[in-house]
Amino acid sequence: MPERFSINELLLPWVGRIRPYPPGKPIEEVERELGRTAIKLASNENPLGPSPKALAALHQHLSKIHLYPDGNGYYLRRRLAEIHQLEMAQIILGAGSTDLIELVARTFLTAGDEGITSESSFYIYRLAIDEVGANLVQTPLRDETFDLAALAHAITPRTKVIYIGNPNNPTGTLATAEEMDRFLSAVPPRVLVVLDEAYYDYVPRPDYSRSLEYVRQGRNVLVLRTFSKVHGLAGLRIGYGLGHPELMGALNRMRSPFNASRLAQAAALAALDDREHVARSVESNRQEMKFVTQELALLGVRYTPSAANFVLIDTGRDCEEDFVRLLREGIIVRPMKLYGFPTRLRVTIGVRPDNARFLEALKRIMAVPAATSR
Ligand SMILES: Cc1ncc(COP(=O)(O)O)c(C=O)c1O
Repeated sequence: MPERFSINELLLPWVGRIRPYPPGKPIEEVERELGRTAIKLASNENPLGPSPKALAALHQHLSKIHLYPDGNGYYLRRRLAEIHQLEMAQIILGAGSTDLIELVARTFLTAGDEGITSESSFYIYRLAIDEVGANLVQTPLRDETFDLAALAHAITPRTKVIYIGNPNNPTGTLATAEEMDRFLSAVPPRVLVVLDEAYYDYVPRPDYSRSLEYVRQGRNVLVLRTFSKVHGLAGLRIGYGLGHPELMGALNRMRSPFNASRLAQAAALAALDDREHVARSVESNRQEMKFVTQELALLGVRYTPSAANFVLIDTGRDCEEDFVRLLREGIIVRPMKLYGFPTRLRVTIGVRPDNARFLEALKRIMAVPAATSR
């Protein structure tokens, strides 16, 4: 018998402390357990589904999946460059934007360096910083949104990267272009600011984001966008980053060469030009957000006004318990304890029948006293 040994002996010291990302519960799993159909309002996906043009492109490319993808993503990057009026050298593709969030940390951070983000923001920012053994610095939210002044204040000579979600997940709150301008002018140019705009297309406000101007001005920013949300391609894993060619050169050294799959590139290229699907998705979200929040108000459930395709609600009770109660009704939402909100649930805005089913279920569970209310 070989001598028994623990793999932990090989583990990098900080890896042992990492808590893996808890994804939304898969709908298939819930349906299996319940023996009936469920709805998933947990991962901010597009309830209208993928762009039909993307589906057609996928069919066309299926017979080519024995071939590796173009590791440079030529056609997709070229189209993205045209649309954003940037050079191709300013664009990088990722297996979702999470891939790029982690790529930034792998490229720029190591033990002894600092990465800053906010508490109660997208969990992958802190995970990316933790994964490389760098120091995670988190500032509290202010008025439920990123406190940009606190972020700027937290910068030290060891700070290399700042991650900002705009709109923020899970609160759905926003920093305006003016606030971001002010923040960037307070950040030393040596610090890379990652502006994660995963929900860009949903934002209804004209004073939102001049991020592309920052890229054109050659500032030290990486703007992240994704095909997972409004384009409805979350299952394919494709997103992109926009920044200075030198930044892209650095990131490309560490990027896994085939991180954007053949099918993902083809579908994304088609989805980009399906403006009708984007417009329909945005409009559906606008109407349904209004419906859901009006009904929440009638129910007396507090919520944070959101600029994205989800809403953070506060039932005032233990969110894990309410999550399980809703699950039993076949509705998957996201409990927010891990994000520092022990009484809140994040709920993706769905289509009307799903939203109505969620609201009915919420009404029922709220009528039953909580086991452990806070
Ligand atoms: C702020 C934010 N950034 C990035 C992502 C992940 O996007 P992707 O699917 O492109 O990795 C999400 C998904 O929920 C998100 O909320």
